[in-house]
Amino acid sequence: MSDRFHEWMAALEARHLADLRFPDVTRALRALSSAYVERRATLARGAALAGAGKRAAFALFYGPLHYLVVRHVVGALPDATGGLPTLIDLGCGTGASGAAWADACTTTTPHLIGVDRNSWALAEAMRTYRDFGLQARVRRDDITTVKLHTGRALVLVAFALNELPDGARDRLLPRFLERIAQGDRVLVVEPLAGFVAPWWNRWQESFQSVGGRADEWRFRADLPPIVAKLDRAAGLHHGELTGRSLWSG
Ligand SMILES: C[S@@+](CC[C@H](N)C(=O)[O-])C[C@H]1O[C@@H](n2cnc3c(N)ncnc32)[C@H](O)[C@@H]1O
Repeated sequence: MSDRFHEWMAALEARHLADLRFPDVTRALRALSSAYVERRATLARGAALAGAGKRAAFALFYGPLHYLVVRHVVGALPDATGGLPTLIDLGCGTGASGAAWADACTTTTPHLIGVDRNSWALAEAMRTYRDFGLQARVRRDDITTVKLHTGRALVLVAFALNELPDGARDRLLPRFLERIAQGDRVLVVEPLAGFVAPWWNRWQESFQSVGGRADEWRFRADLPPIVAKLDRAAGLHHGELTGRSLWSG
């Protein structure tokens, strides 16, 4: 990983462990993981980012994991790192996934537009983008209705579609297909676990019908020390990172 990644991690650790003790963040991480697995109905109400502990756990643990997964995915997909002038990071959270893609772009480093409904997440995303030296702006909006930037763009929605109500997510699919027809490159990343995304097969068929592809990913990654420590303390097992993606480039 780059120096910027390590500096970003050091800044996250300093910021999120300034007012909370490690055991508090561990407890919040267990609650957050259980919200993602067993109490999924609470996600649409924004429960994942409610409270300082869960926010710290998300920023310090899931953000870096998402960075590592997206970095791996864009490095492996053909033509994903060429870059375009703009990258729209939908449901950007703390900005980790968008930063991973933008930072991997080789010929053109895109200007980022982060969109999320949560103001705390947007402030964190601005810091993340800045820590990676990326030009960026953020916008508080609902990703299911937001008016998207009109020029050609990379469009990313990472680990966010599964939080949307079914009807709202269904309405996003034709908008993505339209963007692909206009020449955008669209990347969807979600957890591998099938129960998180029962809608996946339908989305996969739609992406494939316009020349896109679907992949599943499993790889071993060196976790940053604080992430590995939280993983052990919370009894989670992220020695192997996984995910799945839809890509149309
Ligand atoms: C699990 S986080 C993923 C964040 C980021 N994309 C990443 O990969 O780390 C999901 C994010 O989607 C946002 N979100 C969920 N539903 C949304 C909606 N309807 N409009 C805007 N943001 C939404 C949440 O606020 C949260 O920040």
